[in-house]
Amino acid sequence: MILNVNGVDHRVEDAEPWESLLFVLRERLGLYGSKNACEQGECGSCTVLLDGDPVCACLVAAGQAEGREVRTVEGLAPAGQLDPVQRAFVEAGAVQCGFCTPGLVVQAHDLLRRRPDPSTTEIREALAGNLCRCTGYEKILDAVHRAARERAEP
Ligand code: FES
Ligand code: FES
Repeated sequence: MILNVNGVDHRVEDAEPWESLLFVLRERLGLYGSKNACEQGECGSCTVLLDGDPVCACLVAAGQAEGREVRTVEGLAPAGQLDPVQRAFVEAGAVQCGFCTPGLVVQAHDLLRRRPDPSTTEIREALAGNLCRCTGYEKILDAVHRAARERAEP
């Protein structure tokens, strides 16, 4: 099976088409950014972009991702750099244990692509499928607003 992940074609030896995309990303490609928490599409910690749209990688069969573009949290920023969304999460104190953070960052990327200056309600709606057990969400909302402001600056 060949999967295009973060702009690179990967030949994935021994993968079965029915294995979840999340399993293949983590266990066969060593991309541990996408987190495995519920494996039932309930928590959003495994969120990746599939042809630009956010999906729960635990609910997508790897075979369904063949011939499509997968982008994980590792692929959002240039090598060694934090992108504005990631930096905003750190600066706003929106990262505690960090388990939910990659999924939230991917989801926030999608929101800011669609809505460069989202309202708090729009952020809440966009992130409704991403659960965080640590932060109480207020700092996450702050982070997305902060990222929007930073992206808007020339
Ligand atoms: S691990 Fe995929 S939604 Fe929870
Ligand atoms: S920071 Fe711990 S689950 Fe969100």
